[in-house]
Amino acid sequence: MAVSKKKRTLDLNKIPVHIAIIMDGNGRWAEKRRLSRSVGHREGAKAVREIVEEAYDIGVKYLTVFAFSSENWSRPKEEVDELMRLYLEYLKNAENETSDKDVRVRIIGSREGLSDEIIQQIQKVEQKTVDKKRMNLIIALNYGGRQDIIQAVKKMVDDIEKGVIEKRMITEDELQKRLLTEEIPEPDLLIRTSGEMRLSNFLIWQCAYTEFYYSPVLWPDFKKKHFHDAILDYQNRSRRFGGVK
Ligand code: FPP
Repeated sequence: MAVSKKKRTLDLNKIPVHIAIIMDGNGRWAEKRRLSRSVGHREGAKAVREIVEEAYDIGVKYLTVFAFSSENWSRPKEEVDELMRLYLEYLKNAENETSDKDVRVRIIGSREGLSDEIIQQIQKVEQKTVDKKRMNLIIALNYGGRQDIIQAVKKMVDDIEKGVIEKRMITEDELQKRLLTEEIPEPDLLIRTSGEMRLSNFLIWQCAYTEFYYSPVLWPDFKKKHFHDAILDYQNRSRRFGGVK
């Protein structure tokens, strides 16, 4: 039997173009230390900074992080308030932190329910970084994959009614163009931390052929090394997109 040779070091020429991350385990990280969940989220925000830096350095073109799902509003109010404070702080800092970097910041998700302050900050950081090219940092905030598909379908129906497109043009491409991710390529690799193995309504359309990697590490402990392990695992896979090799 032919044994395929496994790569043991990262190939910088084969870095996935788009990596998506479900950053899970902040709460458990805090509970293990008898700390409040808020502390876990704060530590989680630090991990975001480290992974964004590393993604930038190794040449990831698109990095999408799942910060807050449409369903996360059902958490206790204090936790939601704390998370919103963190996002606002992160978006404010992102303006400065990315000023010397070639990073475009975009936020995908519904603006409904977000405070005016957060919405203004989103607009500010998106405008300020719109011409940056090396990396796209996409923050999914108040995002749900099903909701995204519904809003895209509504746009398509509107466009049919207005005569912009015809019914026969209901294709994958036309739907894709109306998703919040529009021209962003589909993720090559999706990482979920904390050992949970599900998609939780994240990029459900876009992940049809994405490679999934589950790490047992809780998000606040997820470091550069773990990120490399995930990419290395990806580099040892064979992607067939439904075909044969
Ligand atoms: C899931 O862990 C994590 C979240 C719902 C929030 C993600 C937020 C961060 C990583 C911090 C800040 C992010 C940015 C972009 C500034 P959990 O709370 O569900 O953990 P558990 O499953 O252990 O309870």
